[in-house]
Amino acid sequence: MALLSQRWMFQLSLFATLLLQLLSPVSAAPASTSLPPASSFFVHSIPGINQHPEHPLQIYSGHLPAEPNVTRTASNDVTAHIFFMMVKNRRAADKDRIVFWFNGGPGCSSFDGAMMEVGPWRWDGQEAGKETFSVKEGGWEEYATMVFVDQPPGTGFSFASTDDYAHTIGEVQGHLMEFMKNFYQVFPEYQYYDTYLAGESFAGQWIPYFADVMLSSHLNIPLRGIAIGNGWMDSKRQYLSYFDYSVKMGLLEENSDDWKKVKDLHGKCEELLDKVNGEPMKIPVCQKTLLAVINKKTADKNGQKMCLNMYDVRYEDTYPACGMNWPPEMHSITDFLGRSNVVNALHATSHPGAWVECRRDVHRAFKENTEQSAITVLPRVLSKIPVLIFAGDQDLICNYVGLENMIKHLKWNGETGLGTVQTQGWNVNGSSVGTWVTSRNLTYVKIFNASHMAPFDLPHVAHDMMLRFMNVNFSSVYGEGTARIPSSLGSSPSGVKPLFLPSAAVPTPSNVAQGKTPEQEKAMWEAYYNAGSAALVLVLIFAAVGAWVWWIRRRRAQGKGGLQLPTSLRGVEEESIPLNPAGVERSGLSSARDMTETGNGHSGRPRMGSLKGKEREAASSSEAIFDVGDSDEEDEGYVADAARAGGSRRL
Ligand SMILES: *[C@@H]1O[C@H](CO)[C@@H](O)[C@H](O)[C@H]1NC(C)=O
Ligand SMILES: *[C@@H]1O[C@H](CO)[C@@H](O)[C@H](O)[C@H]1NC(C)=O
Ligand SMILES: *[C@@H]1O[C@H](CO)[C@@H](O)[C@H](O)[C@H]1NC(C)=O
Ligand SMILES: *[C@@H]1O[C@H](CO)[C@@H](O)[C@H](O)[C@H]1NC(C)=O
Ligand SMILES: *[C@@H]1O[C@H](CO)[C@@H](O)[C@H](O)[C@H]1NC(C)=O
Repeated sequence: MALLSQRWMFQLSLFATLLLQLLSPVSAAPASTSLPPASSFFVHSIPGINQHPEHPLQIYSGHLPAEPNVTRTASNDVTAHIFFMMVKNRRAADKDRIVFWFNGGPGCSSFDGAMMEVGPWRWDGQEAGKETFSVKEGGWEEYATMVFVDQPPGTGFSFASTDDYAHTIGEVQGHLMEFMKNFYQVFPEYQYYDTYLAGESFAGQWIPYFADVMLSSHLNIPLRGIAIGNGWMDSKRQYLSYFDYSVKMGLLEENSDDWKKVKDLHGKCEELLDKVNGEPMKIPVCQKTLLAVINKKTADKNGQKMCLNMYDVRYEDTYPACGMNWPPEMHSITDFLGRSNVVNALHATSHPGAWVECRRDVHRAFKENTEQSAITVLPRVLSKIPVLIFAGDQDLICNYVGLENMIKHLKWNGETGLGTVQTQGWNVNGSSVGTWVTSRNLTYVKIFNASHMAPFDLPHVAHDMMLRFMNVNFSSVYGEGTARIPSSLGSSPSGVKPLFLPSAAVPTPSNVAQGKTPEQEKAMWEAYYNAGSAALVLVLIFAAVGAWVWWIRRRRAQGKGGLQLPTSLRGVEEESIPLNPAGVERSGLSSARDMTETGNGHSGRPRMGSLKGKEREAASSSEAIFDVGDSDEEDEGYVADAARAGGSRRL
């Protein structure tokens, strides 16, 4: 009897425990209980990065779990983790904003963005044989908190067991959403910031899918817009742009042998496209057009076969890299991120092996041939938030002609194409830097004299664009940097950026500093950083109370609080093309012109041959992507697969 009742009691308590777990909101997210605190992500300093001694950047980085399927987690030793590096805004603007940045690939790390494009640092040469980097003006972290995300798992410092790399867009979305959920658990304050997603190249596929799933999820963040630079988003239109772009840019002389060859391949691609169902991200037959353009006849340099740099047609590169050796800083960045003291400082030690810019196996796992291009979800995104498409005009692989054709054929918010809106001129620092047009939530910006990585060439121009897209109130920014660079959009006075002149009296909320003397400048920074001043403390208290009241209200209004996974992850399929140079970083100092001296290929140095180990892996992965030189077999494989697959891939 005693035994029986004990057992009964035990079962009852077990039942009660289970019931409690079911009822408790915590049980819905067991992983959250094991998340480390925000402070454990704080980066004290990074060896090799020269910081401003008085106001160092505030950086948080490390891994967060990114495995949405808990049952799978149990059977795997290594579960998916996404690495991020967050850099808080250096200066204050009218509002708090946060931008999540994604590089492309698939499988290319967002350290490209952080160290060569829109981040705080640029390569600064070597010191005692070590690569060094310095904080430079022009990064987007000036007025917005930037989060550089390595995804899908396996990319950069992110990891997953190799048999678990993402194959479909649905999986990529699932990982990202799990990461986002965990990010806001650790850093809840960012849930209330105006939020943007930005990136380039193959991220032109990722970003619209991320926005789409976020907007229909319970993430409940104010997603205000997405920005995509030289994106691969509409393969059918973009493949057909190679011939037109090359002719327009004078890369092919009319009626030359190269012209005939490219035209012929263009025609074959066009014929095939008529029979391709759906919008696959990659169509191998059509890639031949690009290959023919970059491999057009060019004179050998110092006995080295040369080809066109597919990311910047102003340059050549050695064959078969054709742009993968560019930007030249890539080597320095790989070197830097391979140092164990840097890996330690960034809290990336859980990542096995060395960092590589682009991970071949991540690319290979992803089914570009069948996943559907981002244009299939873009109209839905445009019905909800603004989208910025920008294009450096010197890029071949995701050239502006293809993007303009995409826009022309895209139907969104009730109409096809831009309609009758006026294209505007855009000036930054006294030069005409591009054209700008907005229609029904879509903004298209063409940037003059810029490559595939436009912010690399023209950081201040790209930054001005992003500030305008994010509706930063230029009257509210002051100090050094961007506040002193004039710019204007269109001819109306409302497009003119009010300029901060150091001598002008600037009203500031806390009455500190106009950035006039070093002392004042210092005081201004201290006002931002030290919540020591009474005024700031008061403001913070009011803000906290306000946020609390708002949160309670919102919770009531919505009947649910906190973060949840989307109830249904739509199986979006999409894939990409390797749109990124095989992993390098770039120095902020350089304009494209500097490249000529520093060795973008003109030097004739066969850089590929000097790559070792992992780097070679990265390099050869890009090679595989473009299949420079071969591809008949692949084409046939594609045709056969498509025929077998039936349905959407039937030819
Ligand atoms: C999780 O499982 C669901 C259902 O099996 C699947 O559709 C989804 O793609 C999986 N997500 C990931 C990231 O593997
Ligand atoms: C554009 O985006 C806004 C949000 O910024 C949204 O409210 C609106 O419905 C969208 N559509 C059009 C046609 O502007
Ligand atoms: C803006 O132009 C001035 C004058 O031409 C030049 O000295 C300055 O370096 C430029 N600033 C930027 C950020 O390009
Ligand atoms: C930049 O592009 C514009 C328009 O394409 C061109 O007129 C100008 O010469 C270019 N400037 C430089 C410095 O290349
Ligand atoms: C922009 O900021 C200025 C200065 O803080 C302010 O006077 C103005 O009202 C703001 N404009 C808008 C549109 O919020």
